[in-house]
Amino acid sequence: MWFYLAVLLGLYFLCRWYRERQTVDNLREKYVFITGCDSGFGNQLARQLDSLGLRVLAACFTQKGAEQLEKATSDRLKTTILDVSSTESVVAATEWVKGIVRSKGLWGLVNNAATGAHVAPNEWLTKDQFAEVINVNLLGLIDVTLHMLPLVRAARGRVVNVSSVGGRVINIGGGYCLAKFGVEAFSDSIRRELRPFGVQVSIIEPGSFMTSIALRWDEDLRRIWNRVPSDIKECYGQQYLEGCKSTLWSFCRLEI
Ligand SMILES: NC(=O)c1ccc[n+]([C@@H]2O[C@H](COP(=O)([O-])OP(=O)(O)OC[C@H]3O[C@@H](n4cnc5c(N)ncnc54)[C@H](OP(=O)(O)O)[C@@H]3O)[C@@H](O)[C@H]2O)c1
Repeated sequence: MWFYLAVLLGLYFLCRWYRERQTVDNLREKYVFITGCDSGFGNQLARQLDSLGLRVLAACFTQKGAEQLEKATSDRLKTTILDVSSTESVVAATEWVKGIVRSKGLWGLVNNAATGAHVAPNEWLTKDQFAEVINVNLLGLIDVTLHMLPLVRAARGRVVNVSSVGGRVINIGGGYCLAKFGVEAFSDSIRRELRPFGVQVSIIEPGSFMTSIALRWDEDLRRIWNRVPSDIKECYGQQYLEGCKSTLWSFCRLEI
């Protein structure tokens, strides 16, 4: 028995050693398009990939975010402005990418942009508030993917969708987790469809990190509470509101 166990352990370390030795060639020839690069994970990824030598095409939500990122990175990194919830903006960004990558295509598409707006108990929210979040976090991600897929296919590249632990377990009300569940479903769906074309689809499910999404929750929750109809407010009460705040804060302990 010990012999077989030792062989299994040996095989495990051999596979690990082999996997860790794998490197990607010609990083300087590879284009990666990332959404939501103004801050947080998107910003950090753009900087890291740029420092590794990849050709980063960084989509920022604001001009200010784009300018700051350009200042902090090499001349290789290029920025554009993108609102993922606007198809017009997605089309313009796709044309911009096409003009840069040409026949090389996109080696990577990272769908990172998202809003953390309207996170609250469901009964405090309106249909429009759900729709606003789903429009950015799910439909926006789908729209960007559909437009960029021909470029990703041309490079036999990969799509990386930033989901969340909230895409598996609903820990807060509102459209955020619903959208992230949708991101997981969409990713599973395209993963199967694109395998024959050599395109890989992955998801990332971060836990809770102190980024600008989380920093806005307190203020946002207070705004939502102030607009809750008085009969519902009475029903839930101040103590419930305080409980929600501490639940939200207990999620966000990690710095990126
Ligand atoms: N932080 C966490 O704990 C956590 C946990 C799980 C998953 N995630 C996911 O990680 C990803 C990155 O989030 P983050 O934590 O790094 O937060 P972040 O710093 O707020 O990054 C999200 C970025 O997306 C931008 N954005 C918002 N609406 C947009 C739109 N319509 N079009 C294009 N860009 C838009 C934001 O711009 P503005 O700031 O100007 O709105 C921001 O720059 C998101 O998909 C998020 O859901 C984060």
